Amino acid sequence: MDTERENHQPLEHSLDSLLRPKVWDEYIGQENIKKNLNILIEAARERGQMPEHVLLYGPAGLGKTTLVYIIGSVLGVPVQTASGPMIERAGDIVSLASTLESGGVLFIDEIHRLNKNIEETLYPIMESGGISIMVGKGPTARSVHINLPPIVIIAATTQVGKLSTPLRTRFSGGIMRLLPYNEEEIAHILIRSAERLDVVLENTAATALAQRSRSTPRTANYLLKRVRDYAQVHNKPSITAEVVRAALADRDIDEYGLTAEDRNVLTTIQEIFNGGPVGVQTLATTLSEDTQTVEEVYEPFLVQIGLLERTPRGRSITQKGIEYLKNKKD
Ligand code: ADE
Repeated sequence: MDTERENHQPLEHSLDSLLRPKVWDEYIGQENIKKNLNILIEAARERGQMPEHVLLYGPAGLGKTTLVYIIGSVLGVPVQTASGPMIERAGDIVSLASTLESGGVLFIDEIHRLNKNIEETLYPIMESGGISIMVGKGPTARSVHINLPPIVIIAATTQVGKLSTPLRTRFSGGIMRLLPYNEEEIAHILIRSAERLDVVLENTAATALAQRSRSTPRTANYLLKRVRDYAQVHNKPSITAEVVRAALADRDIDEYGLTAEDRNVLTTIQEIFNGGPVGVQTLATTLSEDTQTVEEVYEPFLVQIGLLERTPRGRSITQKGIEYLKNKKD
């Protein structure tokens, strides 16, 4: 039975697409990036060309994918998505690009995880829109040139430092850094999302949620959906600041938006490694997590709010981090 159609209600996972802005005017914040992308795109469009390749970087959840889809829609072209680790052979890039029959956006997420050998096959594609590949073996081997449709590569990464210089410098349209959002911007995003979800979100509740959203729209929308569930099950007609506090306390999310897992990272450094420094691999093993999760999920926000420090010798808890844990115990 197709419940989605019958109830005229989108399924939970498709809410993400409902909440995602589709045009520039709906996209809140990142003013500098919007301005620069807009010029790049408009200028290329007037010339009847594809814009030059762009690299977007910044922590997860700040809206990199959302920007890519807006760019595709402004250009009026399709978007084909891929991710660094998914591309295993040169032929994979050729087939991805070929699906964009008359041109479009090729979005490569997590480009820092692209295999180094593949990286080199990207260069001619980025520079001349074509690629030469060897077919056959031994004496019959020959090089075949393949022309690809006009594409703009938009790549995204959370770790720009892991990109080689030759790759990084080929993003001639610009290397753009997404910045964390301020609370006002997050509250604005939440109010818009609440309208789309058809729930009543009081202004004080939007502020309380924004404070706990780790400067990240993805987290904000996730928390809003969980608070909405809580309000619905507890028969609350609207989301108030009190509903936000109660719903998030049940999930062990504190007033900074830190979870029990985040606190565990700090406690482990303090209690097992005497406050640090401890190497990220050792830390990850102790937490039973992989290094990438520690680096990309836990650390960025703990560093951003000054509870954790990354030093060349490893990770250390800061004075502020020590005080944070002490207040939790009191
Ligand atoms: N959802 C994710 N990012 C957003 C943004 N910057 N503005 C509005 N909604 C968003």
